[in-house]
Amino acid sequence: MLCSDKLRIVLAASEAVPFSKTGGLADVSTALAKALDAMGHDVTLIVPDYRVLRLARQEYLPVVSDTGLRFGISIGGKYVTAGVNWTALPNTGVKVLLICQTDYFDRPQLYMEAGEGYLDNCERYCFFSRAVLTICQQMVLRPDIVHCNDWQTGLIPALLHSVYAGRPGFENAASVMTLHNMAYQGRFWHLDMPLTGLDWKYFNLNHMEMYGDVNLLKTGIAFSDQITTVSPTYANEICTREGGEGLDGLLGYRRGDLTGILNGIDDDIWDPNSDPLIPAHYSVTNIDAGKPACKARLQERLGLPSRNDIPVFGMVSRMSDQKGFDLLASCASRLLAHDIQMVFLGTGEPRYESYLKHLAAHHPAKVAIYVGFDESLAHQIEAGSDAFLMPSRFEPCGLNQMYSLRYGTLPIVRKVGGLADSVVDTNAVTLATNTATGFVFDSYDSNALAETVERAIDLYSEPDQWRRVMTNGMSIDWSWQNSAKNYIDVYRKALERRFDRTSDGRE
Ligand code: ADP
Ligand code: GLC
Repeated sequence: MLCSDKLRIVLAASEAVPFSKTGGLADVSTALAKALDAMGHDVTLIVPDYRVLRLARQEYLPVVSDTGLRFGISIGGKYVTAGVNWTALPNTGVKVLLICQTDYFDRPQLYMEAGEGYLDNCERYCFFSRAVLTICQQMVLRPDIVHCNDWQTGLIPALLHSVYAGRPGFENAASVMTLHNMAYQGRFWHLDMPLTGLDWKYFNLNHMEMYGDVNLLKTGIAFSDQITTVSPTYANEICTREGGEGLDGLLGYRRGDLTGILNGIDDDIWDPNSDPLIPAHYSVTNIDAGKPACKARLQERLGLPSRNDIPVFGMVSRMSDQKGFDLLASCASRLLAHDIQMVFLGTGEPRYESYLKHLAAHHPAKVAIYVGFDESLAHQIEAGSDAFLMPSRFEPCGLNQMYSLRYGTLPIVRKVGGLADSVVDTNAVTLATNTATGFVFDSYDSNALAETVERAIDLYSEPDQWRRVMTNGMSIDWSWQNSAKNYIDVYRKALERRFDRTSDGRE
């Protein structure tokens, strides 16, 4: 059915390293683009040009130039014009197109300030989605696949299915929608519908409407040719009432088109043997060459007593309800009765930020927190901690537990989503079979978390066993190669599916 084995893939995402980042989506967009390019496909990554953020992190950036292309879109009663900058990801053939619209994207943050989402987020990302397809047309990209990520690009599959159906340049275009997090759906009041550029006939229960609102993630799920999410377990969870965030019915209906593909990690960025952001390097065959030095420097940087004899528990996270901060708060005093240290890096909900600051103020020799976004500290916590906390309420995939495994830092995780798919609990059997890689607990309960941390503290007092678990985790291959192959399979299914979508009664 396909004209050639080499696919023309357009990846659309609202964030991508090193241009912008609030969470794992940014890591995944770039790493997947690189992996697909390494397989010989033609990959174009399209992201908004958040110029302020780009300039703030100039040292990591490839040179960005103006393509000269200018275009305009009628949206919200205005004619909004924009430009397109471009660059290439270093040492790859991946082209990056950055959509330059200063009113929408030249802001201090990506999506929100002071805990409040920008009021025009619907307009900003409807514009972005419509711009992606305008650019495909004007730059004659002729995509086979348009791969969309999260609600910010959820409109694209609907546009491909309607406005762009049969247009020159889109004859072969199928869409894939990846769900990185069902908790963020891009729900806006119904009067935002005209911003989408779509006919009101799509504002119905099967397509774009949810409880009277426009729902852009639902739109992407309803119209895309294939759907993926970022771990097999999360793929199952979101088809249930508890995990579906109100979209389980639609996802159940499309279960045959939904695939869970575990994220990988980008070895160019996350490798303790070459990471430029950590003070000493090490590998699975020579852990002592660097890990103890990383621990000492982390303690020094965060003002904690320099002690190698006690375990340091690290956490790097968006401070949101998803990540289990309420569990930690409920058992913090029990945990801090032990001779341990805890280090936190994150930003997010003010109540969690102030709680952790308060904890650090009361336990200055045991707890350190840095509130903010700091790439180098994130790497240093991965390298310098002994164990890493991820007691998530839900976790579509999670990247930090994989970074931790790579850095010999034992993850302590709740058995949900991608955490369940990537960490093996330590017990007599898994120790004997050399499969143990961390600590896993089941119920969302502070007692269960505390007991699990205490199991880790006990194991830390047996250095040989601890070392064994570190070695098991560090030996796992998390490279993107395998995941990228799975995406190619999904792309091929999408191309087949595209042909029978209109005749299945959903139109
Ligand atoms: P999520 O996408 O839900 O936030 P992931 O575990 O998939 O969770 O990815 C989070 C990514 O964001 C990781 O690369 C992590 O290191 C990074 N990160 C989160 N908070 C911060 C922070 N405050 N400073 C630096 N990096 C951070
Ligand atoms: C989301 C999820 C996280 C996942 C990331 C990248 O933000 O919360 O679990 O790892 O996307 O897919």
